[in-house]
Amino acid sequence: MRVTGVLRVPGDKSISHRALMLGALGDGASRVRGVLQSLDVQSTAGVLRALGVAVPDLGGELVIRGVGLRGLRPPTVDLDCGNSGTTTRLMAGIVAGSPLAARFVGDASLSRRPMGRVARPLGAMGARFDFETAGDGLPMTVHGAALRGLTWRMEHASAQVKSAILLAGLVADVPVEVHEESPTRDHTERMFAGRGVDVRVEGGVVTLVPAARLDAADQLVPGDPSSAAFFAALAAIADVGELALDDVCVNPTRAGAFHVLRRMGARLTFEAVRSEGGEEVARVVVAPAALRGTVIDGREVPSLVDELPVIACVAACAEGETRVTGAGELRVKESDRITAIVDNLRAVGAEAEELPDGFVVRGTGRRPFRGRVATHADHRIAMAFGVLGAIPGSEIEIDDPACAAVSFPTFWTELARVVS
Ligand code: S3P
Repeated sequence: MRVTGVLRVPGDKSISHRALMLGALGDGASRVRGVLQSLDVQSTAGVLRALGVAVPDLGGELVIRGVGLRGLRPPTVDLDCGNSGTTTRLMAGIVAGSPLAARFVGDASLSRRPMGRVARPLGAMGARFDFETAGDGLPMTVHGAALRGLTWRMEHASAQVKSAILLAGLVADVPVEVHEESPTRDHTERMFAGRGVDVRVEGGVVTLVPAARLDAADQLVPGDPSSAAFFAALAAIADVGELALDDVCVNPTRAGAFHVLRRMGARLTFEAVRSEGGEEVARVVVAPAALRGTVIDGREVPSLVDELPVIACVAACAEGETRVTGAGELRVKESDRITAIVDNLRAVGAEAEELPDGFVVRGTGRRPFRGRVATHADHRIAMAFGVLGAIPGSEIEIDDPACAAVSFPTFWTELARVVS
């Protein structure tokens, strides 16, 4: 397989969600450039509209007129979060600190995902959560309240939970302190700081100093490293060529997949590294080389948690074993990704095995793969196996390729464009 070209992957999903939310809560107009136009971000836009914020259609440049920290209106409809865990958990934090109640609903996948992890800390701050079914999935109703401050030791490495607590503290004007064992993506902290809110990060403790207001601010959204990872992986498993991925966010809390690909032998460099929109941004250039298996443990997982499906596919093309542990969180993503990765790798002819908190892939070098992939409507499973399917001679049938639109609507056309 030959890969060639320069690609600008769509805007970062995590930053896009936050740019809309913080724009909505700001004092005055915030401009957002490069927002990701995908189903998940549409869910956040829709939820904010239901709370009375005039979020324009997602496009090249958005202007959001913020309603301030206490300006959200009680919704008259359910908050439909679609497939998006980030929308649900971060908005649960915002609603928890607001004087209103809202019912959160989502699709079948999202409805199965655990929300107790936000209900516990936000409940400890004084909000009330009502779940309608046994367990802690959607639908759930969040009753906002005058919250009290909180010191919280994270039960899981989760930027969504950390952000929900920080947003609740911000909206309710109370101090919060979050203790993290492994650092998770820090976009919320960076974006708070860029909007005049004092957040301190020291030795695994994130502290929010109460702020009565949030400044409006313009946000440039860099390319999503989680989307770029599919093309970095594609270039790594190619036979010849090179791909240049422009304007990728390489924030250290997000860049783990690039380091792992390099460790596996890929020729991967960051060029034109700069700071833009409060994030480190670079051109990521990737070329094929001999690939070997690697070991990934729980300390590294938060920096590549969304990239593990495609890393697993690269591992199938490497020589030797790749072992991933400390990744139990994969079981509660858009699908049970440990099972989805392993079952689908086997279905296409690779050797893989489940671990309770990870998986093992026994790589057999570059070769075609054949079989049918069950995505479970999980965008990252579809795209990861799309990368394997691009190998000449591969015949991989993906049951629901369209689900890529959750995070990367142009994935399939971009894939076709760079492979020859
Ligand atoms: C996200 C955090 C991660 C990630 C998700 C986006 C975020 O989830 O998997 O795609 O924007 O905060 P967890 O924080 O639950 O691990």
